[in-house]
Amino acid sequence: MEQTLYFILLLIALCSVSECVQRQYHFINVRKNWTEAQRYCREKYTDLATVDNMNDMNELKKSVNDERVWIGLERMSVGKWQWSSGDPALYLNWAPTQPETSECGFMTNGQWHDLACSSSLTFICSSSNNMNTGLVFVNQGKNWREAQSYCRQNHIDLVSVRNQNENQQLQQFISDHHSSGSWIWIGLFRDSWQWSDQSNSSFRYWAPGEPNNDGGNENCAAIEPNTQGKWIDISCNNQFPFVCHEVLCPDKLILIKENLTWSEALRYCRQNHVDLVSVHSEEMQLDVMNVVKQASTEAVWLGLRYSHILGIWYWVSGDTVCYQNWAPGNGTAVENCDSAVRSGAVQSGGDQRWISRPETDRLNFICSRNEE
Ligand SMILES: *[C@@H]1O[C@H](CO)[C@@H](O)[C@H](O)[C@H]1NC(C)=O
Ligand SMILES: *[C@@H]1O[C@H](CO)[C@@H](O)[C@H](O)[C@H]1NC(C)=O
Ligand SMILES: *[C@@H]1O[C@H](CO)[C@@H](O)[C@H](O)[C@H]1NC(C)=O
Repeated sequence: MEQTLYFILLLIALCSVSECVQRQYHFINVRKNWTEAQRYCREKYTDLATVDNMNDMNELKKSVNDERVWIGLERMSVGKWQWSSGDPALYLNWAPTQPETSECGFMTNGQWHDLACSSSLTFICSSSNNMNTGLVFVNQGKNWREAQSYCRQNHIDLVSVRNQNENQQLQQFISDHHSSGSWIWIGLFRDSWQWSDQSNSSFRYWAPGEPNNDGGNENCAAIEPNTQGKWIDISCNNQFPFVCHEVLCPDKLILIKENLTWSEALRYCRQNHVDLVSVHSEEMQLDVMNVVKQASTEAVWLGLRYSHILGIWYWVSGDTVCYQNWAPGNGTAVENCDSAVRSGAVQSGGDQRWISRPETDRLNFICSRNEE
């Protein structure tokens, strides 16, 4: 029996608006210690599972029955200070003798101190990237993790302070609205937990009282079925089933699973990424074919447009269409001028060829991420 691997595949395509990570989780129902599980995942997939947010966690919970399950989180020796947003803390403005030994940061009189994360303080969320307009003071005492969740649900995140200028703006905001001497959580924290894939995800889902490092040897994290799937720290030598993840989405392309007209899709890509994708080569077409498998519509918009004036198809990136992958009968210069403007899409199934569609159709679409 031990020789047999049972794979239960759990398919997840998570495409959040801000950052697309298309990640497929694979539940491996074989008991291994954490390090062996990590090696297995790195060989067969990408790595032991990283969890970015509650959506990921809800998907993972589906694979947990009555056993503990390893995820890719491990305790390292020294925690680095970082921002809740995932940014490393490069600028630091500690008060003299700070930080000491705690793991969360608060601000008072413009300077920073560390404090136990379980302490209850008021806090400041950011609601945009602009400090002049994007600060929200929340006049409720919460511990640091609760404050982080509150900000993420209602605004963007706990506030980050990236330089001296921002620190002064924040200090001014606090003294305008409150006494500058109050203690206020900012998004600063350190923990010694790191994801196996080096991801900077600051999402944590510890069970109450965890991690407790009971016995001083609990350096790995597992999903605990008895706490609704919240996490515990536990010795890495235990043998548990585990979850690997596989990153599918080629970095340069993002499938957006919203149903928009071609023009709306173009605007969306230009606002949030770079552009609607241009497919210049067979290699790029292969990337596109990989990404569109996850689409919820039968075709997916490309940055391909027909010009009635010139009577040609062109890429919105400005390039002419050299490499082509049209379905038979599509992509010809002669298009019916009385109907809606035509745009190009790729079929999400079958041969995954390009087809011509009225631009008012509502389809998923692919944005490119990198300038090339
Ligand atoms: C977090 O990691 C991702 C992917 O590794 C990277 O693209 C992003 O820039 C990082 N974010 C920060 C704030 O460092
Ligand atoms: C988009 O359209 C497809 C096909 O009609 C549908 O299955 C899917 O749920 C729609 N998605 C959204 C986000 O509306
Ligand atoms: C374009 O290709 C699709 C799919 O093969 C086909 O159904 C459609 O008839 C083609 N369009 C024209 C104008 O031939």
